[in-house]
Amino acid sequence: MRIGPYEFGSNLFLSPLAGYTNLPFRLVVREIGGLDWTTTDLVNARSLIEKSPRALQMIRTAPAEQRLAVQLFGAVPEEMRDAALIVESLGIASVDINMGCPVKKVTGIGGGSAMMTELAKTARLVRGMVDAVKIPITAKMRLGWDENNLTAPDLARVLEDTGVAAIFVHGRTRAQGFSGTVNLAGIRAVVAAVKNIPVIGNGDVTTPAAARHMFNETGCAGVSIGRGAFYNPWIFTHTQHYLKTGELRPEAGYRERVHVMRRHLDLMIEVFGEDHGCRLFRKPASWYAKRFGPAKEFKKGITQFGTRAEFEALLVNYETWRAPFLDATGELLPRFQPEPMVASFMLSPEELALRRRESIPVPKGPVDVW
Ligand SMILES: Cc1cc2nc3c(=O)[nH]c(=O)nc-3n(C[C@H](O)[C@H](O)[C@H](O)COP(=O)(O)O)c2cc1C
Repeated sequence: MRIGPYEFGSNLFLSPLAGYTNLPFRLVVREIGGLDWTTTDLVNARSLIEKSPRALQMIRTAPAEQRLAVQLFGAVPEEMRDAALIVESLGIASVDINMGCPVKKVTGIGGGSAMMTELAKTARLVRGMVDAVKIPITAKMRLGWDENNLTAPDLARVLEDTGVAAIFVHGRTRAQGFSGTVNLAGIRAVVAAVKNIPVIGNGDVTTPAAARHMFNETGCAGVSIGRGAFYNPWIFTHTQHYLKTGELRPEAGYRERVHVMRRHLDLMIEVFGEDHGCRLFRKPASWYAKRFGPAKEFKKGITQFGTRAEFEALLVNYETWRAPFLDATGELLPRFQPEPMVASFMLSPEELALRRRESIPVPKGPVDVW
């Protein structure tokens, strides 16, 4: 896989999830393996220029995190250019431009998916960034504003001519939000539109088989995974293995999950301090628990804990509560095992309607009120 001057082993990417894909989580996933390129959550270009503490916290990285892209959003060309210069001066590998965010706060100022509606204006802004820095600039987009304006192929073509090094595309429109299924034909149209740069497909990949399906159906050069990595931080290494050998590794069991969860909490405390780190960890801890089987007692406990010691105490309490659901070898009895994950685009519409997917919360209601 190549982006600009960088050559790396994995063609799998971690998608940015604002508020979630912070440094501790990115490091945890890299330690598990299968991932060579990560991206920060979206950072307001102006806040970065003004050196707001929050923006500086968001671009914080560590030596283990080579090949990091900082994702910028904004619509003022000079601000986007200057923010890219700051990112470059910090030795960060790349800048990604957010052209997909559907939230009003971002589109209202002409950023995020609003950039997909004015191709010439967007190209001018991007040109200013590409000309100012040596590091590669990439773009993350959706398929378009709505189904009547599927501008992604045209935009991708224009951006390639402007000097963008790669395109990440979430196979939904801005109007779709996170509903409906991912449109693989839409991603394929973006792949067909560019000549030389890699297109990385994204959306609803929750299993190695789904990643392979996306590669096969779209011809994309890479696959980017967001929510699927929170359900299963092993997804990158398992997918790489599956793509190479055709062998599906079993999902990580409870002990392995707890081991990784502890490492994640340690890093949260290291980066954010014990009090704030523990508070921030409440949300990701509940995602680990989604694959624990019965987890009511754990979920109750994590809404309250505030220290490392309290977390350990809640695990002890949970394991006592969980014991009746296990067989003699310590495995979950079959009737308590969670259903296998299946990506939405691998299900028929009927199966999709039947399946109640326990999901990471996404904005709800009509997209216009987000
Ligand atoms: C809570 C949440 C936050 C997100 N934040 C960002 C973001 O900061 N930048 C971005 O480009 N996309 C963001 N996205 C979109 C994801 O990167 C990704 O495109 C989308 O979730 C589909 O991929 P997935 O099904 O693998 O999660 C966000 C999605 C969610 C659910």
